[in-house]
Amino acid sequence: MKKTTAAITAVGGYVPDFVLSNKVLETMVDTNDEWITTRTGIKERRILKEENAGTSFMAIRAAEDLLKKRGIDASEIDFVLVATATPDMPVASTAAYVASEIGAVNAFAYDLQAACSSFLYGMSTAASYIESGRYKKVLVIGADKMSSIIDYTDRTTCIIFGDGAGAVLFEPNEEGLGLQDEYLRSDGIGRQFLKIDAGGSILPASEETVKNKQHYVFQDGKSVFKFAVSNMADVSALIMERNNLTKDDVQWLAPHQANKRIIDATANRMGLEAEKVLINIDRYGNTTSATLPLLLYDFEKQLKKGDNIIFAAFGGGFTWGAIYLKWAYNS
Ligand code: UT7
Repeated sequence: MKKTTAAITAVGGYVPDFVLSNKVLETMVDTNDEWITTRTGIKERRILKEENAGTSFMAIRAAEDLLKKRGIDASEIDFVLVATATPDMPVASTAAYVASEIGAVNAFAYDLQAACSSFLYGMSTAASYIESGRYKKVLVIGADKMSSIIDYTDRTTCIIFGDGAGAVLFEPNEEGLGLQDEYLRSDGIGRQFLKIDAGGSILPASEETVKNKQHYVFQDGKSVFKFAVSNMADVSALIMERNNLTKDDVQWLAPHQANKRIIDATANRMGLEAEKVLINIDRYGNTTSATLPLLLYDFEKQLKKGDNIIFAAFGGGFTWGAIYLKWAYNS
């Protein structure tokens, strides 16, 4: 019997209209366009300005875009997974709300949090459900409103992050397309380098934590950079090796968009030419869980059926990994 694989069959996306450029950031903190561009590759990022709108606002729009493109009704969806580090609320599942709002009345839903690797891990979860035969249509949404946890007086973090959402649909495939292999890792040593100190069970919110700005992202950028650069390159090279893929067999690298220098180091290690590397960090910055699906959203037309794509991510925790996937359709 032929093995059922889990293929991506549709993509959707949403980014807010408001553009925060490097030039504007120059008026907010002690930074400059040249520093941001050369150190990170970022030129601008999108910020969600709508009042009372959280991550679900963007996730819903990305999902609706996908459903329209795929031409299916939301009632056909079996499972909605929202990969996010910035849920609408700490407890109520954002995914449950998103599923109801889009009309996925027959689905169950939950959130997955693995910082910047959330979407990558979510792809693995979705594929496992499909491969097991238990579900037929799994919607994975990567969405983050990073502006809700960023201190816009801290130049070391506010220049990096942006808001956005991307969605993909996983469905069974009998042609051997879709997810082929994965290598997912984590190491708790990372939590000292990239974190939000307060608002969790160790340090609940208090007047003191607000005063101390402990609800914002803290990042020791240099340390995270060192781990990210070696680990993302390692897993990407490893997944090529164990699938006997040469650089000519790989059509695309879809890397997490945290820093152009980390992306370049990964591509170099894999021996890939720059034209094979999907990049939109210049326009969106680091949208955490949304980087990978937003790459697919932006470059969908260039992806061809049968193309070998390596996805790679690295995030807080630490969490990281790579996925090897065969693209399943021409658009
Ligand atoms: O997505 C989750 C995982 N996250 C990552 O992968 C991020 C990894 N880290 C990075 O991408 C980089 O470390 C950053 C982009 C965050 C920082 O770049 P860097 O080259 O590591 O800079 P640095 O932190 O070593 O700082 C170099 C200098 C410092 O000044 P001194 O001490 O050399 O005088 C900083 O104070 O640049 C200064 N600096 C800035 N200058 C202008 C830091 N931020 C800024 C800024 N504008 N925004």
